[in-house]
Amino acid sequence: MITSRIVGTGSYVPEQIVTNDDLAKIVETNDEWIRTRTGIRQRRIATSEGTSDLAAKAAERAIEQAGIKPEEIDLIILATSSQDYCFPSGACEVQGRVGAVNAVCYDLSAACTGFVFALNTAQAFIQSGVYRTALVVGSEVLSKLIDWKDRSTCVLFGDGAGAVVVRADETGILGFQMHSDGTKGNVLTCGARSNGNFLMNQKPELSYMTMDGQEVFKFAVKRVPEVISQLLEKTGTPIEEIRYFVLHQANYRIIESVAKRLKVGMEKFPANMEYYGNTSGASIPLLLDEMNRAGKLNPGDKIILSGFGGGLTWGATLIQW
Ligand code: COA
Repeated sequence: MITSRIVGTGSYVPEQIVTNDDLAKIVETNDEWIRTRTGIRQRRIATSEGTSDLAAKAAERAIEQAGIKPEEIDLIILATSSQDYCFPSGACEVQGRVGAVNAVCYDLSAACTGFVFALNTAQAFIQSGVYRTALVVGSEVLSKLIDWKDRSTCVLFGDGAGAVVVRADETGILGFQMHSDGTKGNVLTCGARSNGNFLMNQKPELSYMTMDGQEVFKFAVKRVPEVISQLLEKTGTPIEEIRYFVLHQANYRIIESVAKRLKVGMEKFPANMEYYGNTSGASIPLLLDEMNRAGKLNPGDKIILSGFGGGLTWGATLIQW
């Protein structure tokens, strides 16, 4: 059976580090509160680079590691909620930068689940024989969507990008599961560029990200173990066979709660939100690239990726490395 295998990973984060103490100078917060509630110590913030800049740099590294020519890429999907422009898409910009002249390119919007949805979309194309090689990128400059006066959100997020190259192969992605619930969209929203209208003579509103933190927390700790269990059952995989659970890096307490509900030890749940905060669609490929470059992933390892976030959206992918 043909599936898609990850043959290269890459990531990129902006240079500027913003610590919890730095944030305590602009909003009423402190390092202890942020660390104990979220596990985050610092985040990277883009000062001059845009979402496509970060995406292109992560993509270049993934292509280099894959050892392929950019011309071989058939498809580029960029998962992002913080596009630089409505159009052209960030994926088209990445194509231009990396020279993937034969690729079809588009962005995918599913907030923090974006990378998992994008990878699964590439898998569907590859498995059905439509394409052979895809570049899947998650990139965010969420710092431009955040109200830096709102302490309930501004301490949580960071900027960054991660990318993978996937190719048709006999092993790789073993299965996936995806869900959406549009009735709960209001718990995590960003209305940037909404409500402008020529006939009504109104200018577009530029509103910041808003979040009901407790509702998002409850959603995540219920739905993530559920979708992982569904995927294990669907693929006939015993949970003991999973080497790593690479979850979206929103909050360390969410990961602890998911691990507990699945009855799996925390050593199987790698985390790096301590250094990057929640980078939304970028967090999973950023962590995967870190693990890959540190030599933590061995051929045959079974890994679950799982994302959750605005929409609401949630999903998981089972990979054999
Ligand atoms: N610094 C200090 N105090 C803060 C604060 C901050 N940055 N943000 C909120 N507080 C205060 C609140 O005002 C509140 O004060 P009060 O008790 O005097 O009213 C208190 O801390 C508790 O707030 P609460 O919202 O109940 O905290 P919480 O325990 O739910 O933690 C989150 C807040 C955001 C950390 C938590 O809800 C969470 O992690 N939710 C999931 C968010 C997420 O991951 N989103 C992205 C998903 S993709």
